[in-house]
Amino acid sequence: MSGICEGRVAIVTGAGRGLGRAHALELARQGAHVVVNDLGGATDGTGSDAGAAQLVVEEILAAGGKAVANTDDVADWAGARRLVEQAVSEFGGLDVLVNNAGILRDQTIASMTEENWDAVIRVHLRGTAGPTRFAAEYWRARAKGSGRPLGARLINTTSASGIYGNFGQSNYGAAKAGIAAFTVITALELGRYGVTVNAVAPAAFTRLTENLMPAEHAAALAPEHVSPLVVWLASAESDGVTGRVFDVGGGRIGVAEGWRLGPEVTRQDLWDAAELGRVIPDLVAKAAPNVDMLGRTPAGD
Ligand SMILES: NC(=O)c1ccc[n+]([C@@H]2O[C@H](COP(=O)([O-])OP(=O)(O)OC[C@H]3O[C@@H](n4cnc5c(N)ncnc54)[C@H](O)[C@@H]3O)[C@@H](O)[C@H]2O)c1
Repeated sequence: MSGICEGRVAIVTGAGRGLGRAHALELARQGAHVVVNDLGGATDGTGSDAGAAQLVVEEILAAGGKAVANTDDVADWAGARRLVEQAVSEFGGLDVLVNNAGILRDQTIASMTEENWDAVIRVHLRGTAGPTRFAAEYWRARAKGSGRPLGARLINTTSASGIYGNFGQSNYGAAKAGIAAFTVITALELGRYGVTVNAVAPAAFTRLTENLMPAEHAAALAPEHVSPLVVWLASAESDGVTGRVFDVGGGRIGVAEGWRLGPEVTRQDLWDAAELGRVIPDLVAKAAPNVDMLGRTPAGD
């Protein structure tokens, strides 16, 4: 198959279903050799099923593409290491890592169990850090060996819940905000090896969101709408775009602008807490308001 990712080797985590599956299929259609990772568990992360990754591999092979399955748990660092090693041993290298695997265990903070907190933080944050850590080690060695920029790509998956905030998802949103920060920081670290790092905050009708969205949105918000951006970011054509978070879904692509310093006040000596009542409300009134779940302010900008 030929396309903008021809001959590139890509790993997609959580690619047995939903968004990851759509990314893997489109990467393969655009010529990439794909390692399709999926543990095959339920939406809350329980259980496993090797069939999920294998089915996507068979779809890619049937369409004339190249793919192999991997069923490691991405949050297990030994599994993450095996995943990166498998790409290198099967396809001779690694150009693209798409960290996409995810689970949900929504609960308000007053009721949050330790288990639900840890499970969500583990899959999203450890499950992004682990594969990245071993890919980064591989890319560093290759960059030092070749003496030229690699053109490698890391694409993470955050969420509106993490970058804007959503009721009932403090575990998931904290993990996804962490992934947005991880994106910015790893872009700084890996740039010297010729690796760009970006994240997508997708909106798509999948088993994770089917209870939150009306069924009539299924086609308009199909995961396939998110994959073209992921595949372009995975290609050599996206050189120069790094450290960015994209809000994407249903044909819309936006750039999510990050935290930035707003109005400030300074004094040379210590602030007295008792005087801040005359300072802080004014400062907050001058600052841009927090955005809503769609990333927009009440004024609509
Ligand atoms: N669907 C949306 O609107 C939406 C919105 C924001 C963010 N996201 C994020 O997009 C990503 C994909 O979600 P989706 O909606 O396609 O859900 P999905 O449930 O259809 O797919 C997620 C896949 O990840 C796999 N997975 C879970 N834990 C794993 C682990 N430890 N190791 C390997 N694989 C594992 C699951 O088996 C599943 O196939 C997630 O990170 C999710 O948080 C989705």
